[in-house]
Amino acid sequence: MQFGPYMLQEKIGEGGLGEVYKGYRISDGTVVAIKKLHKHLENDPRFVGILQHEMIIASKIDHPNLLKMTDFNAEAPHVYFVTDFIDGWALKGLLQKCGRLPPLVVLCIAYEIIRGLDYLHLRDMIHADLSSGNILLSKEGQVIISDYGLVSDLPTDRFKNELVGTPGYYSPEHVTDQNIGPHSDLYIVGLHIIEMINGEKAILLGRSRDHAAEIYKAMEKLSYRLKVDSNPLQQGILRILEGCLQLRANHRFRDADQLGNYIAKLLMLFNISNPKAAIRQYLTDCRFTIDNGMDEQPIYTGNFPYTLDDLSLLRKC
Ligand SMILES: Nc1ncnc2c1ncn2[C@@H]1O[C@H](COP(=O)(O)OP(=O)(O)O)[C@@H](O)[C@H]1O
Ligand SMILES: [Mg+2]
Repeated sequence: MQFGPYMLQEKIGEGGLGEVYKGYRISDGTVVAIKKLHKHLENDPRFVGILQHEMIIASKIDHPNLLKMTDFNAEAPHVYFVTDFIDGWALKGLLQKCGRLPPLVVLCIAYEIIRGLDYLHLRDMIHADLSSGNILLSKEGQVIISDYGLVSDLPTDRFKNELVGTPGYYSPEHVTDQNIGPHSDLYIVGLHIIEMINGEKAILLGRSRDHAAEIYKAMEKLSYRLKVDSNPLQQGILRILEGCLQLRANHRFRDADQLGNYIAKLLMLFNISNPKAAIRQYLTDCRFTIDNGMDEQPIYTGNFPYTLDDLSLLRKC
């Protein structure tokens, strides 16, 4: 289907607001992703405004760990914006394929996410919706944060009916009347680390405001046994989680940079000096991508052996 100067191919994502298509620019064949409003919303100024807001944010962003906008059309009826197409998976899909990931690879992914967050936070932007569907991984091992729908501009009525963000990826601020801030993003990085290592979500789902108190209670009681089979690595990861998952925002890591440095130091202790290459090496080992020809790093240190409990996860591979 032709859509302005683009040809839309398959639909790769869909939300309440719109759809994401893989496609190409007709003039030169460049492969792209196109996010557009649902047809029935194309003339509704409220929804047009929401997508325009996302475009304005995207237009300010230029960082290897953040999805880059390459073109847009802000005028109704065809309101859309175009980004690089990431040939790979959303973290959500990768976890469905792999069940859980080796802890050092998890730290590499977290490190890359944090680099993107640091860029946003330094520019007074908060992602606020860091779900596993919004973190993309390319076959080359790049980790790219996408979906700027909630960045920076927090609706004042976020507590009316639905909680803002994605169930399972809330911070304490998302479920209380505290302001969502940069530290909220750091909390959610902690949740991702647990989910990637254990293959299980760390916190309850729940979308409506009625669930807020229940989710907060689960956060108060949050305890976890990490599937990491190396004492020093486990200790290091627990310290990272402690710094991310404090209930009070001002008790967490000071900022993304401090958290990133902490993770980088831990990775260096285990002889991982190139996180992106380590992620790619893992994807190659799983045969999800081609051999990278780079120096191998010891990415399986601390890899907890799979148990019977994991078989249901492995069967999905
Ligand atoms: N640039 C892209 N390259 C590849 N896949 C993408 C890209 N952008 C989005 N997707 C896919 O589409 C899904 C939805 O995109 P997203 O921007 O998060 O939309 P929504 O606002 O509906 O959540 C993502 O989870 C991802 O799987
Ligand atoms: Mg999304």
